[in-house]
Amino acid sequence: MRLGDSLRFVTLGEQDALASNNFVVHVRVSGPLAARFPEEDVMNSNKWIRQTHRWVSIAFTVAVIINIAAMGQGEPVVWVGLLALFPLILLLLTGLYLFVLPYAARWRGAESARVRG
Ligand code: HEM
Repeated sequence: MRLGDSLRFVTLGEQDALASNNFVVHVRVSGPLAARFPEEDVMNSNKWIRQTHRWVSIAFTVAVIINIAAMGQGEPVVWVGLLALFPLILLLLTGLYLFVLPYAARWRGAESARVRG
C-alpha cells in the first residue's frame, strides 16, 4: 500500500511491514472507546496466533528434514512420522484461523457500520 492509496483493510502482516519501515498505521475507531477494549484483546490473540504459526512452521520444517534423513536409514519408526504430523495439525488450525481473519474483520466492520447507521 502506497501513500495516497485509498483506505482499505490492512492485514497484520502488512501492519508489521509498515511498522518495520517506520510507517504509522492510523485506525479509525468507531463507537465509544470502552466498547473497543474487547477488540484489542482480539488483536493481541491474532498476533499471538500468527507468531505461533510462524514458529511452528520452523518446527515442522525441522521435522520434515528429520523424516527425510530417517527414510535414508531404512524402515523409519512410527514416532519419526508423528514428529511432523503434530506441528502440521497445529499449522492447519492456526493457519485456518489466520485465513478467516480478513473475512471476519470485514464482517465485523460491516456489522459496526450497520449499528452506527
Ligand atoms: C496446514 C495448512 C496451512 C494453512 C491453512 C496455512 C495458512 C496460512 C495463512 C492464512 C497465513 C496468513 C497469510 C496472511 O498474511 O494473510 C499463513 C502464514 C504463514 N504460513 Fe501458513 N498455513 C499452513 C501451513 C503452513 C506450513 C506447512 C508452513 C511452513 C512450513 C507455513 C508457514 C507460514 C508462514 C511462515 C507464514 C507467515 C506468518 C507471519 O505472518 O509471520 N504455513 N499461513
